Order: sequence, then structure tokens, then C-alpha cells
Amino acid sequence: MSEQQTSTCLATRNPILFGRGTHRRTGEELRRLGVTKALVVCDAGVKSAGILDKVLGSIQAAGIGAVIFDEAQSDPPDWSCEAAAALGVREGVDGVVAVGGGSSLDTGKAAKILLTNPPPISRYYLAHEDVVPDESKMYPIIVIPTTAGTGSEATPGGVITDSATNEKHNVPCMSNLGIVDPELTLGLPPGVTATTAVDALCHAAEAYTSNKPNAISDVLTERAIALIGASLPRVFDDPGDPAAREGVQLAATLGGLGLMGPFCHIPHEIGLIIGMLFHIPHGAACGMTLPEGLEFVAPALPERVATVARLLGGDVPEGAPPETIGAAAREAVIGLYGKIGFPKLSDYCSRGELLAAVPRIMEPYPFVHCPREVTAADVTEFLSRAYDRG
Ligand SMILES: [Fe+2]
Repeated sequence: MSEQQTSTCLATRNPILFGRGTHRRTGEELRRLGVTKALVVCDAGVKSAGILDKVLGSIQAAGIGAVIFDEAQSDPPDWSCEAAAALGVREGVDGVVAVGGGSSLDTGKAAKILLTNPPPISRYYLAHEDVVPDESKMYPIIVIPTTAGTGSEATPGGVITDSATNEKHNVPCMSNLGIVDPELTLGLPPGVTATTAVDALCHAAEAYTSNKPNAISDVLTERAIALIGASLPRVFDDPGDPAAREGVQLAATLGGLGLMGPFCHIPHEIGLIIGMLFHIPHGAACGMTLPEGLEFVAPALPERVATVARLLGGDVPEGAPPETIGAAAREAVIGLYGKIGFPKLSDYCSRGELLAAVPRIMEPYPFVHCPREVTAADVTEFLSRAYDRG
């Protein structure tokens, strides 16, 4: 740690109940939180997969009322969050349960704000800072992830898309409880499994190699990277392997916890823009430049990048120079991608369209958590190499 700037560990703000079968405790946990009627937020996929019914069964068994909003959208737009909250206000709910991927959890968090604070949700964008929702008056929320990646159960806010500008904004919202049940990820399709798990890998690897790690985040993120390296290929060998699913789910939660303080750098900052421009799922967009991002920071943090490479199964000789370490980390990530059918940039845009996004990525300068300064030429090179992988 001594060579690094340190950050405050923010990992303990959101309580989390982790383990197989824990979704069956939703009702009793709502009762403990004093909820009598819950707004249950999910999307159509969670409903059709039967997961909504599982959670509703627990809620109803505890004698708690439920009002269902099953129209959560990906990259949740402001209007959808406001519609969910309006339903909850009309129905007089006094709590929220958000079930699904990161988009459903973020919709639920935004709805929690608007149940007790006046709309629109844009009033509470963190970038505005002049209007802070009163957390003490908010009703409780339980978040139940059904994908293993975003770590939204561990982060104190949600990400909302402003429909007027298409820009993403953070809103502040604590979760009163995360129920993280690996059983709920057993039926996840391969594409979603791959991209959400890579989102988790990015959270952990970027936080571990940011300019502000701390002793606690290091424990969380190292473990998350190791779990992804060991468990994710096993999920692709046997999608019904509960232990392997549990490993990836735990990595996702640890990655979400670990990034709170160190935060992310190159892959996420680039991924947020290209994901928005070319409609690339968040985990895929961020994962595109993870190999190049790790290679780039190797000269600044050779030991840390060597650890990432080794945890992902890479071979890094003792005493190797930074260039060798960076290349090993890059190859280790690409090797993992090969095992999980990770998508290609050419599936979403042309090379010209991609490189035309560089000025948008650089303005305003986004790489404040990166241990090296990043130029527009660097970003052009990262994207070119990522695109040329096929
Ligand atoms: Fe992410």
C-alpha cells in the first residue's frame, strides 16, 4: 500500500444477505424493515423466467402486500423510473423490492427516492448537487440481483438515463438490504452471463489498479478477480453448476463493494461512452478495452498488474519487466474472453464510427482514477487494438 495514494473504503454502507436460497427470506426481511405493502420492480424477462413469482411467494407468505411494476427498461430512462414511483404513490406502498439486473435495481432505487421526494428524478442527479433527497424519510428498499455482475446491491446509488440528452446520471440511494442468491442466476443465458461477469471483472481489476486503492478494497477486489478466473470458465462448461455460479455471484458483489473508494478507470470511462453511442450492453462495452487498460497501467503498477494476470491464469515470470507483465495481463483477459464467447466491437459499429467517438470520450477528461495520464492518441490505440481483435 505504501506506494499508493489511499482512499476511504465505502464498502460497508449497504447490508447484504448472501447465499443460496436467501431469496426465500424476502418477506421476513421486509417485515423486519417495517414494510406492509411493497412496490415490486422488475422487467418482463424476470417475470417470464418465473423469478418474480418466487419472490412474490415469499412476500405474500409474510402477509405483505405487493404492487408490481414489471416494465423496467434497460439503461433505465427517467420516465420509466417516474412511472414506477407514480404507481407506488397511487397504491400507497411503504417499501420497494427491486428484482433483476442492474437496470431493474437502479429503477427501483430511483423509485425509492421519488416515493417520498417530488419528481422529476432529474432534480436528484448527483451532478446537480443542489437538491439532495432526504434519505431519512425514504421507505426501505430490498434489492435482489438476478445477474452476477453489476454489483448494484453494493453501491449507494443508481444510474439513470436522461431521455432529453441520452446522458447517464447517478442518483444517491442506499439499499436497506441486498439479497444476493446465486440460485437466481442458474438460468441466465450465456450472453448475459458473459457480459455481466466481465462487468464484475472490470470493477475489481480497475479498482485494484486505480490510483486510489486501499487495504480493504484490495482484499475484496483480489478475491473477486480470483473467483472470476476460477469460476467463470466453469459456468460455461456447466451452466447449472451451483458452486461455479455462486463463485461468479460472490465476485460480482465483492467487485461492487471493492470499487467504492478506488473507483474505475480506462475500461469503464471508455465503456460508458461507447455503450451509450453504439447500444452495447454495459459489461460488454467496458470489457472491450480491459486488456488494453491493464497493459497501459502496467508500467505504473507492475506488481498489481502481475497479480491480476496470475489470478486470471496468466504466466508472469518473477522479475519480468512491465512490458512483459502488461502483455501477460492482456493475453490472460483475452484468453478468458475466448472461453466465454465475449462479443466483438465489430458486432456494434464500424471502425470509423468507433474512432470518431474519441473526442467525446476525452471531453471532459474522464480518467481521473487512472494511475497514468491518458491522451486521445492512447484512447485511439486502445480502441483500434480492441476493434482489430475481430
Ligand atoms: Fe460497471
